[in-house]
Amino acid sequence: MCVMKKLKFAALALLVVFLFLNLTWKKTFLAVEEMNVADVLVQLGEAPAPHQPDFGIEGVSAERGRDIVTKGRTSSPFGGESKRVSKHFVCTSCHNIERDEPDLSKTDPEARLAYVREKGLPYLQGSALYGVFDRSSFYNGDYEKKYGDLVNAARHDLRQAIHLCATQCAQGRPLEDWEMESVLAYFQTISLKMSDLRIPDTELQKIDKALKGNGDKSASAKMVKSHFMDGFPATFLDPPQDRRTGFSNTGDVEKGKEIYELSCLHCHDDKRYSFFNLDNSRLSFEFLNQHFPRYDRYSVYQVARYGTPPVPWKRAYMPHYTKEKLSEQMLEDLRAYVEQQAGQE
Ligand code: HEC
Ligand code: HEC
Repeated sequence: MCVMKKLKFAALALLVVFLFLNLTWKKTFLAVEEMNVADVLVQLGEAPAPHQPDFGIEGVSAERGRDIVTKGRTSSPFGGESKRVSKHFVCTSCHNIERDEPDLSKTDPEARLAYVREKGLPYLQGSALYGVFDRSSFYNGDYEKKYGDLVNAARHDLRQAIHLCATQCAQGRPLEDWEMESVLAYFQTISLKMSDLRIPDTELQKIDKALKGNGDKSASAKMVKSHFMDGFPATFLDPPQDRRTGFSNTGDVEKGKEIYELSCLHCHDDKRYSFFNLDNSRLSFEFLNQHFPRYDRYSVYQVARYGTPPVPWKRAYMPHYTKEKLSEQMLEDLRAYVEQQAGQE
């Protein structure tokens, strides 16, 4: 009996100690997890990113930056409304401002599609602007093929990347200094949190230690950096060799529907960001179905892989999807859906 009591007491004591440890443990994690990735990296001895917003310029604010990104214009510090950046687009025509990748350490278009569907976000050609502040290279990979020398200036310079996108992608005008710095100020507010990264507890513990001054700072910085991409890769692909047969993959109608609704309709429904209308009518599906196998400007294979050609500053164009944003499987999914809908009474 006595032994039993002792055992019970010991078990209880252990439980209390365990719960206590668990609690303090969670607390430190919580503190680290709530921090911005950028702040953690600076505290671990990394140099701050060169694109810190310059609040010294009159009128700079994150709110104004948000307006510019989501509405294309804002209240001017000099009175009235500012001029629209682009006649055709806002930044959010092509970029989410919310996180849209489930695992920020890699790209996986199918996982991204499932993620945005769950979050109620559109599925877009541009990478999320959420976390762009934490990247150090832009327009990576094959984008050089599209924009040539323009990319050189933008590759390691977020200001130049924004400039390139405002004038080329959005077919708009260059931003004024106060607008550019406001956009950066806004991007800073949507930079990555430690909790966005999938860092295992054992690593978090080491990082926490290093932050408190008793651990290897540079190793910890490396650890943090291994959990997100500091530049998104971009690979350009061609349409299938034979557009009639397409790729050999069998399409998944359900996924095709998601791509159509979350991506194509985002810009084409009611001609929102385009002069070309698409909707859920049989007419739309019949049209797309007819052109899918053709070698013309209405073939989905064509526009998905090559986009439509921009005429600088003159008109809207459609950005193409890189391999990282639309796989060949997904193109066949879309085709299967279009075919099914076109065939329905
Ligand atoms: C018509 C579509 C479109 C519009 C409008 C647009 N962008 Fe982009 N943007 C893209 C595409 C496509 C890329 C290619 C690289 C990527 O995002 O992965 C890109 C790239 C970028 C990048 C570099 C991202 C990276 O990680 O490489 C930044 C920064 C950016 N855009 C900012 C903006 C801002 C700010 C606006 C609004 C003024 C804007 N964009 C409007 C399509 C667009
Ligand atoms: C970011 C916005 C955007 C998204 C997303 C988008 N498009 Fe487009 N698309 C455009 C714009 C802009 C044009 C240029 C045509 C115009 O406005 O006149 C265009 C052109 C086209 C054209 C050729 C029309 C022509 O007049 O040459 C087709 C076909 C097309 N899109 C189909 C699609 C399909 C299918 C999807 C989904 C896989 C899609 N688009 C996704 C913006 C978009």
